[in-house]
Amino acid sequence: MTATPIVEITSTGRFLPSRVMTNDDLAEIVETNDEWIRTRTGIRERRVGPPDLLAAEMGRAAAAQALERAQLEAADVDIVVVSTATPDRLLPSTACDVQALLGCDNALAFDVSAACSGWLYGLSVAEGYLAAGRGDTALVVATEKMSNILDWTDRATCVLFGDGSGAAVVRPSDGSRGILSSYHRSDGTLAELLYRRAGGVRMPMSEAVVEQGEHLMKMSGREIFKNAVRSMAEACEHALAEAGLTGDEIDLMIPHQANIRIIEATAKYAGIPMDRVFVNVDRYGNMSSASIPVALDEALEQGIVEPGMHVLTATFGAGLTWGAMVWRT
Ligand code: UT7
Repeated sequence: MTATPIVEITSTGRFLPSRVMTNDDLAEIVETNDEWIRTRTGIRERRVGPPDLLAAEMGRAAAAQALERAQLEAADVDIVVVSTATPDRLLPSTACDVQALLGCDNALAFDVSAACSGWLYGLSVAEGYLAAGRGDTALVVATEKMSNILDWTDRATCVLFGDGSGAAVVRPSDGSRGILSSYHRSDGTLAELLYRRAGGVRMPMSEAVVEQGEHLMKMSGREIFKNAVRSMAEACEHALAEAGLTGDEIDLMIPHQANIRIIEATAKYAGIPMDRVFVNVDRYGNMSSASIPVALDEALEQGIVEPGMHVLTATFGAGLTWGAMVWRT
């Protein structure tokens, strides 16, 4: 028997900076080439915004589109949850800045920090608020200005990521569509596989920190790769079981878009052929937590997602954090 949804994704929106950076463009900055990047990651190009474009402004744009599509006003929003690994500042939350920019005067606003998994975590938090009757309308926004935290001299990381924002309006479901299951886990013992050393209390910003690039993202790619495949496979298994479904019954899979090889391996474990997997990593690279909502928004816009379909999402990121969800659309 399948689960009964309590909340649904009513509408979505996205924002992508207009500047496209191709693999050839990157080859002019670091020692890399289009062939290596395409065959190892599936990425052809990514979007890179200007340095002074704020994560909050990007999130506002995506959220405003989602609100407009739901025919809602900013004042209708009760909860603003923002996921970002690239906050514009450390205090207050980016969510409060997004709230102010939108004018969501009746909302509470806070950030969820779960790196690439942040949007799915945020969706679960919003589900909890709505299920408890603490509001009718949640905005779940992911906004990632990855280009500002990349080490542009490190070819092992700078070729992988891109900027972007995605957002969804989440509301109570009438029981026919919405979130059927969700599964999330973390493992803080592996934090140092993907992290930023400086900028917080442990190692405050200083001229030396910036000079040595200690505030920028560092990643052990191979270890992350192995953990990503294992964790996303496990998460899919749990989310499918909780939804009362098998891979055969999934119409579309929307995985986190980090690397086409991770996507293919995860889909294989979940028993879903690649023609039922949404891929945009080729055009945007890894946009951290914005990858899934941007992909969902594109899938809806392209008419790939139709009413009554079962969608499986799966994610993985720094923390380590991972998870999966099943929705009926
Ligand atoms: O959202 C979660 C965040 N991150 C991820 O999901 C990333 C997970 N990891 C990966 O996707 C892959 O591990 C990478 C794409 C990062 C790397 O692929 P790989 O097949 O694991 O390559 P590797 O790290 O084993 O490196 C192979 C070779 C090395 O050269 P040697 O030592 O064999 O001579 C690297 O120095 O490729 C070299 N290399 C590059 N060459 C050209 C690494 N980066 C580049 C590059 N261009 N950009």
